This record gives sequence, C-alpha cells and structure tokens, in this order.
Amino acid sequence: MNFYDSDKIHDLLFFHGYEKTNILDDANLIVLNTCHIREKASEKLFSDLGRIKKLKDQKKITIAVTGCVAQAEGKKIIDRAPYVDLITGPQAFHRLPEMLRDLSQGIKVTPELEFLTNDKFDNLRYSKRITGPTAFVSIQEGCDKFCTFCVVPYTRGAEFSRSISEIKEEVISLTEIGVCEITLLGQNVNSWHGVDALGKERGLAYLILEIAKIKKIKRIRYTTSHPLDMDQDLILAHKEISKLMPYLHLPIQSGSDKILKLMNRKHSSKQYIKIIEKIRNVNPDIALSGDFIVGFPGETQSDFIDTLELVKNVGYAQSYSFKYSSRPGTPASVLESQVPENIKKTRLSELQNLLFSQQRRFNSQFLDKEVEVLIEKYGERNSQVMGRSEYMQAVYMDQSLGSIGDIKKVKISCVGQNSLKV
Ligand code: 5AD
Ligand code: SF4
Repeated sequence: MNFYDSDKIHDLLFFHGYEKTNILDDANLIVLNTCHIREKASEKLFSDLGRIKKLKDQKKITIAVTGCVAQAEGKKIIDRAPYVDLITGPQAFHRLPEMLRDLSQGIKVTPELEFLTNDKFDNLRYSKRITGPTAFVSIQEGCDKFCTFCVVPYTRGAEFSRSISEIKEEVISLTEIGVCEITLLGQNVNSWHGVDALGKERGLAYLILEIAKIKKIKRIRYTTSHPLDMDQDLILAHKEISKLMPYLHLPIQSGSDKILKLMNRKHSSKQYIKIIEKIRNVNPDIALSGDFIVGFPGETQSDFIDTLELVKNVGYAQSYSFKYSSRPGTPASVLESQVPENIKKTRLSELQNLLFSQQRRFNSQFLDKEVEVLIEKYGERNSQVMGRSEYMQAVYMDQSLGSIGDIKKVKISCVGQNSLKV
C-alpha cells in the first residue's frame, strides 16, 4: 500500500510540474512517505530526517512527511524535526499541491491529518503514467478489525470501499498504457463491498469478475485478505475465474488459539485450516502465503510450537514473518508478559527456517517444468529480463526469450529459494 501511495504522490506532483530525481542533492522537494507498522519503520524516518536536515542547512529545500508515521506522530515530528515543512496522513496526501502552493505564498500550513479518503480518490483519479505491465489499484482502505497489535485502524481509519465504476475506470485507464496485470489492494481487501448497476450489494468476487471482463486484463491478484472475510463466492472465484491467479495471501499471525484470542483475530486456527481446505478443494493448485508474528505478549514456547505445527500443516509457498513490535496506543502494548528480545529472535529464526524450507520445496517442484511468466522488467544482469509466474515466483530469463509485457511459457532449469531461472 505504501508503494502504491508513493507512486500516487509521484503522479500527483508530476501533474503539478514536478519531476522525479534519484539524486538527493538535486531535489528541492523531498517527500518521505512513511510506514508505522513496526518500530523500525518509524525510527528510520527520524534518521533519514537527520541526514536531510544537513542538506537543508546548505540550500533551500521543502521537506514533506506523509503516511502513517505522520498520522500517528505528527506532533512528535514537529517537536523533533521542526524544519519539516509539510505533514499529511495517508488519507490526505492529495492536498500536497495545495499545501505547497500555500507554503510558497508564505501562508502558514498546518498538518493535514483528517481521513479524507473519498476526497483523496476523487483527486487521484486521472493521474496516470507508464508503469510497465503490472499495476496496483487500491480498492479498499482502512480496517475495522482492530487486531490488538496493529496501528492500521488508527492510522488509516475505518474501512472504506471505492465504487465499482471508479475502480473499473482506473483499471481501463491503466490498460490504455499497457497494463495487463492488476493487483487489487486493501488493508482488508476481501472486506471490499460495493453496489452494482442494479443496486445489489456485491463482494470482492463480483468485482474480480467485472475486472476479468476487461479484455486487455490478463491477470488479477488481490492482497491482503482477512480469514473472516473469505466468503464462499471468493473461494469459488479461484476455480471459476481463470484470470484470477492461483495465489492467495491469507495471514493468520499465530497458530495458538490463546494468542489468536489475545490478538483479537476473531477466528481460531481450526477455522483458518477449514478455510484453507475449502480453497484447496476448489483449486488444489493454489499457492498460499501468510504473515506471522512471533513473541506476541504472553506467547509461551508451547504457543510458538502451535505456530510451527500450523505452518507444517498448511504448507506455504511464500511468507512474511516478524518479531512482535510494541506500537504505542495499541491494546497489546500495555499487556503484561512482553516476550524478551532474545526469545523473539530465536523463535523468528526457527520459524523462518521452516518457512524458507517450505518455500524452497514449493519452488523445487518447478524444476524442468514449464511455467507461464509475465515479463515485467529488465533484470539486474545484462541481457536478462524478470517476470512473475502465476504463483508470484520471480523468474529470470534471457532477453531473447521475450519482451516486457509478454506472457511466455518457459521451461525452468534452475530453482532457488527466492527465484526461478530459465
Ligand atoms: N508487530 C509485528 N508485526 C506486525 N504486523 C502488524 N503489526 C505488527 C506489530 N505490531 C505485521 C502483521 C501484518 C503485517 C502487515 O505486519 O503480520 O499482517
Ligand atoms: Fe491490522 Fe490487518 Fe488486523 Fe486490520 S486485519 S488490524 S490491518 S493486522
């Protein structure tokens, strides 16, 4: 979501006469779009600001801080870094051009921390620039789930779904500049709901079907889903909509029912496994991905073993795993029995060993097999291009085998943990 927002900020400023530079010294406006999900992310902001301050001492530059750290710590930023000129939360960055204009006219600009989500999408609608064959489209923002460890409901606000017509308009405009793969984005993407032309309430499966009708769209993905919102229509969509890729990111966070309860996840590990079984029944081919947190307050060794067991039981193709990071203002931050750092570290490495071995096992099935790849960009090595398989694996091949935007069937000759090679 942050990458998507950064791109949108870029588009917005581009249409207001700004041009991107990769050289910090050349910039006269620096926008730091921030993430607050874990502590490291917000600490990074202050260390980056320290470096940029030195630049600002030498020449006139405008510094803007946007995103979730701005939302959560706007006041702290003003105190710790008073040289920051503009502050906006993640649901108000469309106001940046206006704020920049006010600033240049000597008008005092106050931080914009309102949740202006509707207004934001209206203002971002017509910005578009060449992105390559793949693009994100935000269809849903915010979260009403309130997991006790998570800042998102506070920094992004309540669940908000964009309308079907607005989403389709954005997808069609992206196909006009060469996009053929769309990833529908939302903090809780499968909670998306909208009203169709006949006034009927619809869920994500319907939206995916509508997007699949757009001829130039060849591949559809969505992320991130909550198990509670995985309804039967969406499960069936993985069988019935061929453009929907066989990949599902469905976080559980922990395999222990005690911890799931403390996390306020509102489902048990059994319920999660049941959903996975239903999905595999309709599409045995699906690649699963998950998010895990180790060291949530109160997590014992036996709770952690439940997580390892769940992982063994499910079998993930890919995953993200984190040490619990206490976030100010969240219910979990005041729970007693916080887990010591060294235990979190050991558990994370044990869990990652297991998850990475599953990822290697998943990838190794593709050795000497043909996979269908959408070529996305040039690789880091000369004469190489990089694309993604239907299962999201990165695939590297020689340029002679296809051009950016092509969908090619290629035979895999080498498999690694993080990528496949032709
Ligand atoms: N500590 C560690 N990981 C977290 N996540 C969210 N909040 C925290 C936190 N306080 C992880 C969850 C979520 C992913 C986006 O980030 O696993 O699914
Ligand atoms: Fe955060 Fe996801 Fe839980 Fe919402 S569902 S509170 S975004 S972890």
